[in-house]
Amino acid sequence: GKVLLAYSGGLDTSCILVWLIEQGYEVLAYMANVGQEEDFEAAREKALKVGASKVFIEDLRRELVEELVIPTIQANAVYETVYLLGTSVARPVIARSQVAIAKREGCTHVSHGCTGKGNDQVRFELAYYALDPKLQVIAPWRIPEFYHRFPGRNALLAYAAEKNVPVSQTPSKPWSTDENLFHISYEAGILEDPNVTPPKDMWKLTVDPEDAPNTPERITIEFKAGKPVRVTNEADGTDVSDALDLFLYLNTVARRNGVGRIDIVENRFIGIKSRGCYETPGGTVLRAAHIDLEGLVLDREVRAYRDEHITPVFGKILYNGLYFSPEGDLITKMVPLTQANVNGSVRVKLYKGTLSVEGRWSDSETLYDMEQSSMDVQGDFEPTDSDGFIKIQSIRLKKWGATIQQQQKK
Ligand code: ARG
Ligand code: SIN
Repeated sequence: GKVLLAYSGGLDTSCILVWLIEQGYEVLAYMANVGQEEDFEAAREKALKVGASKVFIEDLRRELVEELVIPTIQANAVYETVYLLGTSVARPVIARSQVAIAKREGCTHVSHGCTGKGNDQVRFELAYYALDPKLQVIAPWRIPEFYHRFPGRNALLAYAAEKNVPVSQTPSKPWSTDENLFHISYEAGILEDPNVTPPKDMWKLTVDPEDAPNTPERITIEFKAGKPVRVTNEADGTDVSDALDLFLYLNTVARRNGVGRIDIVENRFIGIKSRGCYETPGGTVLRAAHIDLEGLVLDREVRAYRDEHITPVFGKILYNGLYFSPEGDLITKMVPLTQANVNGSVRVKLYKGTLSVEGRWSDSETLYDMEQSSMDVQGDFEPTDSDGFIKIQSIRLKKWGATIQQQQKK
């Protein structure tokens, strides 16, 4: 049969490619360009050299931004209060394109190099099955003949040498990474001890906040229906409005100001705890600006409903790999419904790893009414009306207070 392998160009997936051929499969290699720093042409050559019959390199950057990253921002989605879901959001577009190519090329199988302990195996495979229920999955890191044969890196290196698989000369880093235009993750290796501080040179997408410029930078982000539509920076003359360009620019400013790093211990879907370090430069800025603007324009109860029923649910759906699911469908339809009035601009200051909002405004009619909110203007608000409001609200509290006093007397 034919297999379409999600190929990275690294040691693991190169060995998997050769091993699949050894098992009698014709192997086609698939690479997704989701904005990671990568020499795709070198990887293409390598895949062909080790025996792939075809290589596909798909540019998924725009769909990643437009279909996954922006809705994630619109929903303020996050996992366990801090993880901005950078790896999770790329999986649906990567899997979808892999399934489409597999179908087109007549592949009966798809394969990937995820380990058996992680989230990514779950995300990829749930997506494959939802998008093409007949597709068969080969996950070598869960096949005993494979993982017994390759118990560690040295076994892979020996196999690579035996099969003439080129191995990169740069020594491998003592952690594993996953990168796209939204984020980079660092996990495993020396990071497995949660009390080991990552070395300064690990961080790749942002400068160390201590080394960032001593003068702040100020940008303005405009949103329409909760989507970022324009970013300006008077100091460097920036004025961008294309979704992808705007996102890449936000990465640039956040990077040079050291904004967007976290170091956490999270709970994987599988039930294992895992330490991870993440950089999400542009995403961190966008999320903060978006949340701020919502304060100005969103109705209180819509916001409360969304915060309780959409934000954490969407985060969990993305994290657990259930974007392609009935609940994933439902929630992605709900998110835009909350955003119709999220129109306006936010002024953000970036400075040495921190980010602060300095002001916001909206040119649309908004729920914020300066006169109504003013402490200096009475307007059509009758202060005596608040007497009744407090009186009614206090009925049950007076009752409760009285019972407490009774109990204390006994
Ligand atoms: N822990 C993060 C997540 O589950 C990052 C996963 C990184 N994946 C990888 N294949 N290195 O989203
Ligand atoms: C992996 O296990 O392949 C990487 C980590 C993860 O998927 O959570």
